[in-house]
Amino acid sequence: APIQAPDLGDCHQPVDVPATAPAINCCPTYSAGTVAVDFAPPPASSPLRVRPAAHLADRAYLAKYERAVSLMKKLPADDPRSFEQQWRVHCAYCDGAYDQVGFPGLEIQIHSCWLFFPWHRMYLYFHERILGKLIGDETFALPFWNWDAPDGMSFPAIYANRWSPLYDPRRNQAHLPPFPLDLDYSGTDTNIPKDQLIDQNLNIMYRQATRKAELFMGQPYRAGDQPEPGAGTVESVPHNPVHRWTGDPRQPNGEDMGIFYSAARDPVFFAHHGNVDRMWHIRRGLLFPGDTDFTDPDWLDASFFFYDEEARLVRVRVRDTLDPSALRFTYQDVGLPWLNAKP
Ligand code: C2O
Repeated sequence: APIQAPDLGDCHQPVDVPATAPAINCCPTYSAGTVAVDFAPPPASSPLRVRPAAHLADRAYLAKYERAVSLMKKLPADDPRSFEQQWRVHCAYCDGAYDQVGFPGLEIQIHSCWLFFPWHRMYLYFHERILGKLIGDETFALPFWNWDAPDGMSFPAIYANRWSPLYDPRRNQAHLPPFPLDLDYSGTDTNIPKDQLIDQNLNIMYRQATRKAELFMGQPYRAGDQPEPGAGTVESVPHNPVHRWTGDPRQPNGEDMGIFYSAARDPVFFAHHGNVDRMWHIRRGLLFPGDTDFTDPDWLDASFFFYDEEARLVRVRVRDTLDPSALRFTYQDVGLPWLNAKP
């Protein structure tokens, strides 16, 4: 059977947060009795949101994005659309704050399994629509960190301005732009020359993005299963290393980006996951059309809860997440330099 959307009233201390982390509450705001609506895609006539590469974003776009994030940060802390609530949604689903329905004591974990891409896609989807709503712009789209192309292989500068709402002080200070990004980062900086590092990154991209669909998406995870049956190729690398590379080594667990519970407190999380999602989009739409559209109902009917831009509680199923054009978003076309970087 599919993993079911959790009982939101039964959110508890997250079991996967390390003991060295400060005491935190990951449970998103919830009032007992709130009725969830089933997800409906936006009208086909609504504008297509085109997500730009962060390093190509112009001033006008940046001003909009910064205004939206600062408004989100100013919402009352108990508004489910506030920045304070938004990061908790990730924490709750990623650190075991919910048990599986019908399996007390068995956590829901959307990492290291075939729910990774669909869950994060919808997390960004609602986050983006909330931001757009706050600035009254139906075309607003989140940026993506284009780490699969040489020009995007450093920390995106728009997040590094300390006066910006996109800034987070808990980051690795040695990795600020233009320091080159290592997609295979394992905790220590390499000293290979930059050109070689770029080639290595492109080879990694080719290898990870072209593995067969089952390996790309991650292992099956059904009701009653132990968490983390196995990550997909892109989730393992470069998704995980980019988290670690960004997080702050002065913090006990590499907070914010370097550990799941706190990762979404850093606004760059959403640009990182924009590119993760773009890899799925490219694979499905361009490289191997439809090969990741599994037909197993245990995947298609797995469900989650999110709050939408109207603060309504929405139940989303994996089957709702498959087609970005139906969700009315896409990505700026910036080419795929790794396509001819077969190792
Ligand atoms: Cu839910 Cu990049 O992690």
